[in-house]
Amino acid sequence: MKSGNASASPAGGASGLLKVALAAGAAYAYLRLTQTGRRLAATMARDMQAIRERDPAARNDLEILTCYPGLHALWFHRLAHALWRRKVPVLPRFVSQVNRFLTGIEIHPAATLGDGLFIDHGAGVVIGETSEVGENVTIYQGVTLGGTGKETGKRHPTIGDNVVIGAGALLLGSIKVGDNVKVGAGSVVIHDVPPNSTVVGNPGRTVITDGAKVGIPDIDYTHLPDPVAEAMRCLVRRVIQLESELEELRVICGKAPSERVPINEEVCDLLGDGVEDA
Ligand SMILES: CC(C)(COP(=O)(O)OP(=O)(O)OC[C@H]1O[C@@H](n2cnc3c(N)ncnc32)[C@H](O)[C@@H]1OP(=O)(O)O)[C@@H](O)C(=O)NCCC(=O)NCCS
Repeated sequence: MKSGNASASPAGGASGLLKVALAAGAAYAYLRLTQTGRRLAATMARDMQAIRERDPAARNDLEILTCYPGLHALWFHRLAHALWRRKVPVLPRFVSQVNRFLTGIEIHPAATLGDGLFIDHGAGVVIGETSEVGENVTIYQGVTLGGTGKETGKRHPTIGDNVVIGAGALLLGSIKVGDNVKVGAGSVVIHDVPPNSTVVGNPGRTVITDGAKVGIPDIDYTHLPDPVAEAMRCLVRRVIQLESELEELRVICGKAPSERVPINEEVCDLLGDGVEDA
C-alpha cells in the first residue's frame, strides 16, 4: 500500500501538471489563432491596462492577474454576458452568482459594461440588470447601480465615459450620469448628472460643473449695491437743484448771492459719482 502511494503520487502529479500545461497551451493557441480569441485577448489586455493606469499600487502583471477581484469579476461577467446574449437559460445567472461568491461583486449578466472598467477593491459592488457603463469608468467598493423599486423596464443608471464613482455611492433609478463625472464617496444620486461635474452628498447635488463651483451667487463683490448711499445721492441732487433755483430768485429780487459753501465741497466728494450729473 505504501509503495502503491509512493508510485501513484509522482505519476499523478506529473500527469496533473501535463493537463494544466495542455489546457494553458490550448487557451494560448485559442487566444492567438482564432479571431474571437484575438478579440478576447485584446479586451483582457485592456482590462489589465486599466488597472495598471489607475492603481499606483499595481506593481506587475502577475499581481494584477492574481490580486484584483475586480478584474476576476469583470472576466466572469464577460462570460455570463456572452451566455446571456446567446439566450442560454439559468447558466448566466449561475455564473454571476459564482462570481459574487468568489469576488463579493454582483453583476447581473444583462448589464452592459464598457472597456477599461476598473472595479477597485470590489467588495459590495452591485450592478443591476439594465445598467449601462461607458468606457474607462472607475468604481470603488460598495457602489450600487440599482433601481429605486418604483420603475420597470430600464430601471438602472446609464454611466458615461471616464466616470469615477466613489466608495459606497448609491446611484439609483434610470438616471444618466454624463461623461467625466466624479461621484463623491457615500453619495446617493437619484437625478441625472451633467457631464464634467462633481456630485456629492445625500441627496447628491452637483457642486462643480466644468471646473467651476456651483451655487455661489455670481456677484461682483467690489460693486455691491448700496441703497443708503443711493438715497443720499438722490437727496443731494434735489438740494443742488433747489439751491440753484433759490439763487436765481435772489437775483430776480435784487438780493446779493448767498455765501454758502458749495454742496459738492461738503458732501459730493463723499458720495462719489452720480451726484452732480443730475
Ligand atoms: C468627490 C471627489 C472625487 C472629489 O472631487 P473634486 O471634483 O476634486 O471635488 P473637490 O474635492 O473640490 O470637492 C468639492 C466639494 O465637495 C465636497 N466633497 C468632496 N467629496 C465629498 C464627499 N464624498 N461627500 C460630501 N462632500 C464631498 C468638498 O468638501 C468640496 O466642498 P466645498 O466646496 O464646500 O469645499 C472625492 O472627494 C471623492 O469622494 N472621491 C472618492 C474616492 C474614493 O471613493 N476612494 C476610495 C478609495 S479606497
